[in-house]
Amino acid sequence: MKTATTTDSFARRTLLQFEDILNKFFGNELNPFYYLGALGFYFFWVVAVSGAYIYAFYETGIELSYPSVEYLTNEQWYFGGVMRSLHRYASDALVVVMVLHLLREYILGRYRGARWFAWTTGVMLMWMIFGAGINGYWMVWDKLAQYSVVATMEWFEWLPIFSQPLSQSFVTREVLNDRFFTLISFAHVTVPLMTLFVLWVHVMRISTPVVNPKRGLVLGMLLALLILSLLKPALSQGPADMAIEPVNIGIDWFYLYIYPLMDIWSAGWVWAFVIGLSLLLSILPWLPTRKKQIPVAEVNLKDCSGCRLCVADCPYEAVVMRPRSDGMNFSEEAVVVADRCVSCGICVGACPSSNAFRKEEGYVSGIEMPSLPISGLRSVMIKDMAKLEGDVRVIIFGCDSAANVENLRSKEVAVLSLPCIDM
Ligand code: HEM
Ligand code: SF4
Ligand code: SF4
Repeated sequence: MKTATTTDSFARRTLLQFEDILNKFFGNELNPFYYLGALGFYFFWVVAVSGAYIYAFYETGIELSYPSVEYLTNEQWYFGGVMRSLHRYASDALVVVMVLHLLREYILGRYRGARWFAWTTGVMLMWMIFGAGINGYWMVWDKLAQYSVVATMEWFEWLPIFSQPLSQSFVTREVLNDRFFTLISFAHVTVPLMTLFVLWVHVMRISTPVVNPKRGLVLGMLLALLILSLLKPALSQGPADMAIEPVNIGIDWFYLYIYPLMDIWSAGWVWAFVIGLSLLLSILPWLPTRKKQIPVAEVNLKDCSGCRLCVADCPYEAVVMRPRSDGMNFSEEAVVVADRCVSCGICVGACPSSNAFRKEEGYVSGIEMPSLPISGLRSVMIKDMAKLEGDVRVIIFGCDSAANVENLRSKEVAVLSLPCIDM
């Protein structure tokens, strides 16, 4: 039995096959693809801790910033330099896991319905992280920073809201002063703090979000970052000089890709790309889809004793308890908050009303998926199992969001795919 959410798009099949390969290397427990969001949090913390160390030595000023970063990189290479490299590489890793996390949620269709909230706050996070990263490169005030500042100003100049060119009025040698550095170093603290707040908002509707990867992943990733930091330390590209246009600059492709894009396209097209992509991503949860959405869970009051087990198990805090409304001798009843429910069916599995010892007729759960009543599931299961042949007969419970178990059906094997295996 397959439910409406089961899809087998090329992207989904490829993702699942790739995750299967990763499982062979890392095992299910340490598969990084199962912890992309948690790895995002982890890299954010590595960036925050290494950043706090660098900040303690950072000096704000046109003549001071570059030498202060150079001091850390060269004089204190064994610690300050490593911290700088960790800061850079963990920021890059943050972009990688963030983009993979976005793609994975999209491919698995986990962005519609109640998940619109995590999705749209995710889009906000994406631009905040890119903004903080670009701003970080300015702090060093080397040739790359000079190139990035001038190119950014030229990009903004394209907007018809500035009366005079920013690259000539804001970042010339005469105008560029210590106030500019105070501004960028202030922004480099406040934007990440705001990002942390939005990260909290991002997962606030998930009752127990996985925000910490497994210890093996934490140690493995830290080791990889440390080895990279020692083999290829983060270096500056010579002090900025506004009188000389920088040439042959090495850029960080994770954060600074918009500048080469501006060379290939134009400032206007890059604006169109950034605004268009943001708009598209923001409205994605509401765009029409051919996939049928499963209706949200419903409470059958006469079978609900108010035991709260569904409240405890719902991952999305979509079930709340209210005072009893039907006069039955229980103090509370369960109520589904429809716009939080993702139709996973986990609450159905939690409800003791649908225990296996009840008779088939009148087999009702206190909380049900209207499209998949528990009595219907039970009769399909009994019917399919009755058809099995052979000495060893197997029933496989699958998950609509994972591999398609339908392919495993045979004379000895019955299959039942559920919206979530936890159901
Ligand atoms: C670095 C930035 C990000 C971090 C650290 C992060 C972290 C997380 C974490 C820890 C979860 C909970 C995972 C779980 O417990 O199952 C989550 C869920 C989610 N994230 Fe992100 N996220 C980030 C960016 C994004 C972006 C850019 C998007 C997409 C635009 C996105 C979309 C989602 C969605 C849709 C969920 C909900 C999944 C569900 O309800 O099952 N996130 N994120
Ligand atoms: S189906 Fe049940 S467990 Fe899943 S989100 Fe809805 S109320 Fe919560
Ligand atoms: S719906 Fe079921 S699990 Fe939820 S409170 Fe009622 S009896 Fe308990």
